Amino acid sequence: MAVDLLLGLQWGDEGKGKIVDVLTSNYNIIARFQGGPNAGHTLEFDGIKHVLRTIPSGIFHKDSMNVIGNGVVIDPVVFAKELEGLDQFDIDYKKTLIISRKAHVILPTHRLLDAASEASKGKAKIGSTLKGIGPTYMDKTGRNGIRVGDLELSDWKEKYRALADKHEAMIKFYNVDVQYDLEEMEVEFFEAVKVLKSLQFIDSEEYLYQAQKSGKTILAEGAQGSLLDIDFGTYPFVTSSNTTAAGACTGLGVAPNQIGDVYGIFKAYTTRVGSGPFPTELFDEVGAKMAKIGNEFGAVTGRGRRCGWLDLIALKYACQVNGVTKLMMMKGDVLSGFKALKVCTAYNYKGETITHLPYNIEPENLKPIYTDFKGWKEDLTKMTEASQFPKELNDYIDFLEKELEIPIYVVSVGPDRKQTIFR
Ligand code: IMP
Repeated sequence: MAVDLLLGLQWGDEGKGKIVDVLTSNYNIIARFQGGPNAGHTLEFDGIKHVLRTIPSGIFHKDSMNVIGNGVVIDPVVFAKELEGLDQFDIDYKKTLIISRKAHVILPTHRLLDAASEASKGKAKIGSTLKGIGPTYMDKTGRNGIRVGDLELSDWKEKYRALADKHEAMIKFYNVDVQYDLEEMEVEFFEAVKVLKSLQFIDSEEYLYQAQKSGKTILAEGAQGSLLDIDFGTYPFVTSSNTTAAGACTGLGVAPNQIGDVYGIFKAYTTRVGSGPFPTELFDEVGAKMAKIGNEFGAVTGRGRRCGWLDLIALKYACQVNGVTKLMMMKGDVLSGFKALKVCTAYNYKGETITHLPYNIEPENLKPIYTDFKGWKEDLTKMTEASQFPKELNDYIDFLEKELEIPIYVVSVGPDRKQTIFR
């Protein structure tokens, strides 16, 4: 069976957790392939809201297996707390959650390095979630990292000490004020490693290969968004992994010819947390209204998200890079009551009209060109089928489908599992 992918097409926070949760009943296995606890996948059902950080969003379905792939970076401290949060749900995660031996471990000093690096950048800071993501991937590509499989070896603590000592020297080199008590952090870390080690470690590429061969259905769950991809995103204001479709191949060991559907998720408008260019950002009361109605606050850091109109050029780019086959539009309900809507359909780039995402999208070079739409006033949150949609929403959807040449398969009209309309 082919492996389907589910990816965010903007700057993250598109609602991937909710959709994976909705789709999970169609799949035997849900697999995370990149990122780490910088992600906060929010799921709502039965009046409960739950935020997952590293654990795949299929965990609430008793019959699905959840794989944390080799491309993920795991912080045992965050992970142990995440497991604790699951205890109230009676989930047998020792059976249904399995972890790649090749996934890398986030050390306490990776978090400190993240803080030191950001502090040293001053105004040019990335706006990182400070979860140690960048430094851990740096150690991975620098071939210094500690992997989950290493935790099974007798000498792993020596390897840990050598790396943590090196990190402390690096923190001093940054010459910024980072306060910490490593001994205290290590007590928590080593306790959490014990919890991590109580789960099953696997050779995940082999597991997934055999699963495919035996006809099991697999959904690969992306984290962050395509515009935060280390190669194709708005570098350097990106995360440190490949968030796009290719990342699923390297982050799970799935061959490219085994990829089936690529579900691309986008919000009916655009948001971004952290620094970096955002051509359609709104600085007025319209943006503030989107933020308020959409409850646009980061699930991990609580930071307010920047809001703006839908950027069709950036969305087209993300569809291209990922090979999206089906689109899912989230948070259409947030736009109810906006008299007029705008979609960016071209850019003015240094005085010239262009319709592709150029290398440099800093505001001094690039201004959005908008197409106007009439808004809808109906509340969408109680709607259960597409036939109930107002004309203006249908016009908006039809326009996007025509421009992107990809069907919009799902329209989400609220945070709950049930508020999902298949078209
Ligand atoms: P890092 O991955 O924590 O280093 O953060 C790098 C950039 O990606 C920052 O702008 C973050 O705000 C952003 N970022 C990281 N993870 C997420 C996410 O899950 N959703 C939205 N933005 C994210």
